Amino acid sequence: MDYKSSVEEYQKLLNSTSNRKKECLSFAHFLEEHTNWLTAPASTRFHLPQKGGLLFHSVGVCKNLLRLKELLAPTIPDDSCIISGLFHDVGKAGLPHKPLYHENTSENTRSFPFKVNKELSSTAVAMRSAYLLARYLPLAPEELQAVLYHDGQYIPEGEFIAHQEEALTLLLHWADYWTAHIEEEGHPIRISSYSES
Ligand SMILES: [Fe+2]
Ligand SMILES: [Fe+2]
Repeated sequence: MDYKSSVEEYQKLLNSTSNRKKECLSFAHFLEEHTNWLTAPASTRFHLPQKGGLLFHSVGVCKNLLRLKELLAPTIPDDSCIISGLFHDVGKAGLPHKPLYHENTSENTRSFPFKVNKELSSTAVAMRSAYLLARYLPLAPEELQAVLYHDGQYIPEGEFIAHQEEALTLLLHWADYWTAHIEEEGHPIRISSYSES
């Protein structure tokens, strides 16, 4: 998927929301006007460190989350998947007029393409995502949990909800890691054979 298609997919997903469409659209408008949401990279070097990488990742996660929920938990509303899927990493866009990532203009060829903006107050990305979202969108408790703990047990904060995860939290976590590691980073899917001898 190229950048233009990910913008189109993003708009299609936003427009397919139902109950909170108005709020979703005004949140998107705020992001597009006051942050670099549409052009931010997804990380400084490993994970889509390129212009528009964050949007590309967010669209991919949202689509995979909708697929997983259709298969495993069809009673979860589409709006919950679209909101938490599209915006779980919105904190990577930073805050209004203060992006999290800056282009690295260093001449050093071994440096990363982007660097973290030291002028932005340090906060976990998931926390900033929840903060930004909550200003525009009334979130259900399950959506808040899913956004805050989408890294699952990979980070110490995850322990707080261990074994108490909502279905949406588990599905968002899987959609996020599948999209990032299998689809974006292209880790091979290995099937090892074994013999019983
Ligand atoms: Fe994340
Ligand atoms: Fe993510």
